[in-house]
Formats: sequence, structure tokens, C-alpha cells
Amino acid sequence: MSPITRGIESSCDETGIALYQAERGLLAHALHTQVAMHSEYGGVVPELASRDHVRRVIPLIRQVVRETGVSMAQINAIAYTQGPGLGGALLVGASVANALAYALDIPAIGIHHLEGHLLSPLLSDPAPEFPFVALLVSGGHTQLMRVDGVGQYTLLGETLDDAAGEAFDKSAKLLGLGYPGGPALAQLSASGHPGQYKLPRPMLHSGNLDFSFSGLKTAVLTLVKQSDDNEQTRANIACAVQEAIVDVLASKARAALTHTGLSRLVVAGGVGANQSLRYRLSEDVGKRGGAVFYPDLQFCTDNGAMIAFAGALRLAQQPGKKDYRFNVKPRWNLAEITETL
Ligand code: KG4
Ligand code: ZN
Repeated sequence: MSPITRGIESSCDETGIALYQAERGLLAHALHTQVAMHSEYGGVVPELASRDHVRRVIPLIRQVVRETGVSMAQINAIAYTQGPGLGGALLVGASVANALAYALDIPAIGIHHLEGHLLSPLLSDPAPEFPFVALLVSGGHTQLMRVDGVGQYTLLGETLDDAAGEAFDKSAKLLGLGYPGGPALAQLSASGHPGQYKLPRPMLHSGNLDFSFSGLKTAVLTLVKQSDDNEQTRANIACAVQEAIVDVLASKARAALTHTGLSRLVVAGGVGANQSLRYRLSEDVGKRGGAVFYPDLQFCTDNGAMIAFAGALRLAQQPGKKDYRFNVKPRWNLAEITETL
């Protein structure tokens, strides 16, 4: 049997623990989300996030042991999110992972959070084959990557300012919605009338695969100030925001497929849970004879499963090192891990 890999995710406001083994797939995964705790403050408070990870990580590990019957001694490697993310939050997962790995005399593997996201659709059936274009859309990142294999990532384009998730979150805040704004804005926009307001599509015709969302936020601010405060107006604005973001993401994803000549698109990261984006991408890419792949909804946002899975793939490529000196990388460019191979 192939190795059993434990995954630990703690880069932001979710503590995720999972066990993965190649033949049997995902054995179990457990998640604690801090959304309720941070919503009081309208966004993630880093110090509170770190402290909560400290509280949750061991009980979640125990939960996964109970659910699977897989004891600590049966685990062959521990993968953890090494970055990018909040420094303090990353340190919790990294220190628990390295301490456990040291005690068990097994390798500890630092994983890039975005690599976890972009490989997560491979956990689904059918899984996309390499090569594919990945649209990574999370609260902190918006990138188009060409993926030729595990560890073979080429950046095609990225946001020059705000991430798509940030555009959802900031617009939601302007509309008086809670944190995280993406799901709340998507829900409100369901009762909105499309086409009532026209918001800018920044860089739609820039001729490259980069994005910019900060101008959209300013346009939403102006629109909200000018409009009355009734529920239907807010829903119509929410609808216009979602349309603008989806329009830009879908156009650039299409352009990336044309540019690379590839037919498979993988969508990963929290914004990939957006139903309107999913519908639009499936329609657009389907028309070109291509296919879109998504992670299961539960694995769109941060989770331990994607880290356990990426760790298992890395371990299959090269034997993990038993070197328990560790650092975390709050800022870490995904292209860098291609070069280290
Ligand atoms: O990948 P993720 O869980 O965490 C980061 O690594 O950032 O992404 C979180 C982002 C947030 O900005 C959240 O508002 C957005 O994903 N999001 C959504 C939806 N669900 C989550 N945005 C739009 N529509 C959704 N349904
Ligand atoms: Zn994420």
C-alpha cells in the first residue's frame, strides 16, 4: 500500500486536517471554520486566527484518528501549508506538523497553499488530465496558470491589485453585507434584476491575461452612495457586481485557453464556489469543445484535504526529507516552486 499522508491547513481562517492514501483516496477530513468569530470584526483578525488554530488543531487531528481508526503510528508523512498566508496562523500548522513528524520519525512536507487549491480538482471524478489551464480565484489571489504536471506551473496572468474574492468581499461590505462577502453577495444577487446597472469591466480589453479589480470597488462605492437603500436596489447592485466580476474572469479564462491552445480549464479557490461563475464558464468553455473541472464544493474553500493530497503527490515524486527545521512563507510566489524541482 502507498503511504498515508496527513494534511494540515492553517493559512487563514480555517483549520483543516485530512488523511489521504493513493489507492483508497481521501480517508477522512475535518474542518473548523472561524468565520463566525471574525464576522464580528468584518474581516479576519490575524491574532485571533492564530489563537483559534492553536485551540483546534489537536482536537481535529484526534477526530480524524477516531473516524478512520488510522493511528498516529500508521501515518507515513505529514504535509502542512507552509505559505502563503498569515504568518502566525501558518506557524501553528507548521510547528504541529514538524513536531509530530519528528516524534514519529517521518517526513514533514511544506506545501504551497495555491498548489493545494489548483490540484484539488484532481480529487474529483472525473479528474482533469494534464496539461490544463487553472483559474485560481481566492480571497488573496487571482491567477491564471498553465499546469503541465505536479510542480510544473507557468504564470499566464494575475491581478495587479485586488483579488476577485476581495472584490466580492469589499463590494459586499459596501452593500452592508457581512463577512465573508462572496457568498452573501451571491445570495443577494439572486433576487436582483440583471442589467439594471452597468459597472466597469477593468482590463477586459487589455490584450493580456492580467486582471484589476480595485476600480470596480470605487465604482460600487459611487453607485451605492447615489442609490436609495431599498432591498431591491441593493439586490440589483449585487447582481451588477457579480456580473462584472464573472464577465472579466470568464473572458480572461477563455483568452488563456486560446493563448495556450489547451481545452481543459480547472477552477479553484473560494470564488470557484460561485454558481454564476460556474454556469458562465461551463457555457463558454463548452461552446469551444473544452471542459471545465471544479473541486467538490466543500474543497473550493480552504481545507486539509487539498494539502494532504498535494503532499501525497509530492511524496510520490521525491522522498520527503526528515529535516525538521522549518520556516513559513507568508508571501510566496507559486512560480518559485517550479524552479526548485
Ligand atoms: O480560497 P479561499 O477559501 O481562501 C483564500 O485562500 O483566500 O477563498 C475565500 C474567498 C472569499 O473572498 C470569499 O468571499 C470567496 O472566496 N467566496 C465566494 C463564494 N464563496 C466563497 N465568492 C463568490 N461567490 C461565492 N459563492
Ligand atoms: Zn485558499
